[in-house]
Amino acid sequence: MRLRTYRRKSTLGSEMSLEIISRRGPRNMDQSEFYELRTGYASTLVDLGTGDGAWPRRFAREYSNVLAIGVDPDRDALGEAAKLADRKPARGGAPNALYVAASVESLPAELQGTGDWITIYFPWAALLRLILGGDALIGDILNDLAAPRARLSIVLNAEAVPEGFDRPTPEKVRKSLRDPLEAAGFRITRSEWLSVDQAPPTTWGGRLVKGSGRAMVALDAQR
Ligand SMILES: C[S@@+](CC[C@H](N)C(=O)[O-])C[C@H]1O[C@@H](n2cnc3c(N)ncnc32)[C@H](O)[C@@H]1O
Repeated sequence: MRLRTYRRKSTLGSEMSLEIISRRGPRNMDQSEFYELRTGYASTLVDLGTGDGAWPRRFAREYSNVLAIGVDPDRDALGEAAKLADRKPARGGAPNALYVAASVESLPAELQGTGDWITIYFPWAALLRLILGGDALIGDILNDLAAPRARLSIVLNAEAVPEGFDRPTPEKVRKSLRDPLEAAGFRITRSEWLSVDQAPPTTWGGRLVKGSGRAMVALDAQR
């Protein structure tokens, strides 16, 4: 029998305020304002490494009862995302999309336990290395972020491999994430190659599909 290992300490920051990127620029949202905002929605999507934030905006437009949060340290990209989300709904806007400036390694404490659905699509840099390396930290981060019955969806570009890592395959990704996800209370429900028509509707998904023939690996897990 394998023992469940629990994280040692929270990965979340101790300061209680979210750096929100809005159309007008960055601003802090304190815990009570964030709590108030969340109570208006049935559930929360958290997209880590959201880039230009197109996916949470699209999802928010489709599901008006979901608060869709895009998280990324790239404030310029989030600024553009916020401008699009702030447009009138008839012009592509989504009042229920929110953009938070943060790296996954230092997520704000307010996000604790909020993610009913956590998505990580086409990560690169540190976020990708945490996943490919099966780093215990990715389990700690997800443990902190996930709601009790959370769902997790990860899609990787199998052709973009950081130096020092093997090309990901469904088997390798399953194997490297098994322990950190189990420690975070997740059970892996799927790991497989994705065909071009199954790419998630993100900007990078669109680019890879256009580039054709590029392999994608998907992993889903459930708490
Ligand atoms: C290739 S882009 C993908 C963007 C988007 N998910 C998509 O599919 O269009 C990778 C994103 O990962 C983000 N990223 C890399 N390391 C990160 C980290 N440590 N924490 C949060 N985001 C990170 C980058 O800033 C970048 O926006």
